[in-house]
Amino acid sequence: MSDIHSFRQAVETFIATRGWTPTRFGRTIAGDPLFVFDLREGREPRSETRARILKAMQDFADAGAEAPLRIGVAGLGNVGATLVRIIQKDGAELTRKLGRRIAVTAICARSRSRDRGIDASDVEWFDDPVALAKWDGIDLFVELIGGEDGPALAAVKAALEIGRPVVTANKALLARHGVELAKLAEETGAQLGFEAAVAGGIPVIKTLREGLGTAKIERVYGIMNGTCNYILTRMGNEGIGFAECLADAQRLGYAEADPTFDVGGFDTAHKLAILASLCFGCEIAPDEIFVEGITTISQADIKVAGDLGYKIKLLGIAQRSADGIDQRVHPTLVPKSSSIAGVDGVLNAVTLVTDHVSELLLAGPGAGGPPTASSVLSDILDIARGTRVPPLGVPSAELTPYVQAPMRAHEGGYYIRLNAKDVPGAFAAIASRMGAAGISLESVIQRPDLRVDDPAADGTATRTVVLLTHSTMEQAVRDALAKIASDGFIAGTPQMIRIEQL
Ligand SMILES: NC(=O)c1ccc[n+]([C@@H]2O[C@H](COP(=O)([O-])OP(=O)(O)OC[C@H]3O[C@@H](n4cnc5c(N)ncnc54)[C@H](OP(=O)(O)O)[C@@H]3O)[C@@H](O)[C@H]2O)c1
Repeated sequence: MSDIHSFRQAVETFIATRGWTPTRFGRTIAGDPLFVFDLREGREPRSETRARILKAMQDFADAGAEAPLRIGVAGLGNVGATLVRIIQKDGAELTRKLGRRIAVTAICARSRSRDRGIDASDVEWFDDPVALAKWDGIDLFVELIGGEDGPALAAVKAALEIGRPVVTANKALLARHGVELAKLAEETGAQLGFEAAVAGGIPVIKTLREGLGTAKIERVYGIMNGTCNYILTRMGNEGIGFAECLADAQRLGYAEADPTFDVGGFDTAHKLAILASLCFGCEIAPDEIFVEGITTISQADIKVAGDLGYKIKLLGIAQRSADGIDQRVHPTLVPKSSSIAGVDGVLNAVTLVTDHVSELLLAGPGAGGPPTASSVLSDILDIARGTRVPPLGVPSAELTPYVQAPMRAHEGGYYIRLNAKDVPGAFAAIASRMGAAGISLESVIQRPDLRVDDPAADGTATRTVVLLTHSTMEQAVRDALAKIASDGFIAGTPQMIRIEQL
């Protein structure tokens, strides 16, 4: 065999065994992206060039005992671009930790031309995330596109189907398809990491999957949406209204242009559904959650709650009960003295109530490029080290069907704000309906500064009244409020906020 022939064969074998493209070989080894094409065209490299390339191939093969973990990243937005930057910047530190280099070898986004502050010179570009997920030049696929279906789902499935590990930060995808994806991963032996999908930078998934041994979780609750926490905190600290706080959150990039998903409580519900599955070993049920957002919270609510020793937080709460699993997301009065009340601004927190370790509070940044990318990276490192855990904590075949406990069976204290018509007998009628429903009132507050403007349709003046109940059944409160409304002594819809003595 001639020199040039054996050289050509060595190059082709080198490319084929690594699943590389000729362009990548050209860039990484030859320093000329078109090198292999020229070679195939019959152009013969000079003998010095051949020697240089054979040496580079040999050096590469020698280092191959520690071949890099090759990562493909689909989605180069807030989280994806930050992840690539961290891997490129902290390469040496990562290699030291892992004993192996991590290399981003492929990327994908919609726009090729956008400057993302990353070095894409030695990285394959893909327009199609599914093609990237299946490409032989990566060992691990990272999905940071977002969305519960569409390209994110297609690409994650494509990678898992060929047994390729996947890391994602996509809570919507996990909430909707988590069980199906966990099954697929188990069937093909692929790992599936989604630490960043719940509470951004807080390592709650790892804690649940690996950190608690056999501890039995009785309850999980937390603040899982930074936008809502930012709005409620500012309303409390600065006495300003919901709309103004939301506008600021949008200006600062904490809230989306369409904030419904956040302020309506649905984002929290997705995260809660994932946590509940890991805590209680049940299937993920994002649609079977009682959800109330924070849009009806007024300054009066925040103020009177504060005067009574409470803060208002949007909590996601899941607990096991005799009737099934109670999953709910709603604004909640929490005592100012509780740990969760101290979690303010854009921070998130998750509390796990367990039999062995009592209460465990994990708090930290719940979103943002660096915290979220850091959680993605922690999954990548775990997978690179060979850590194997069923995606949902237990094999998916052992997940129990989700049985939703009826919300109306909920028992606790209630904050009720209503606008009573300023007519004789109104207060007596309200108190009597509460008494008849077996509801014991802890306080009745009526102050001029708590006024929420809500005049009756018939023009009668109203007074804002706040009632605080002792622990009672939700059904009793709802029934009493329905009767009070039908008596015609109130205007508008009463505000009802649950109280949790945490
Ligand atoms: N941001 C956070 O703080 C945070 C926190 C926790 C979890 N997450 C989750 O992390 C994921 C990414 O969030 P993000 O904030 O980084 O989103 P983002 O800034 O909107 O970035 C999305 C990226 O996906 C790319 N993309 C969209 N459609 C695509 C398609 N069809 N093909 C290829 N690429 C496509 C976009 O390309 P272009 O750039 O070209 O438009 C963009 O680079 C989401 O699942 C999100 O829920 C985010």
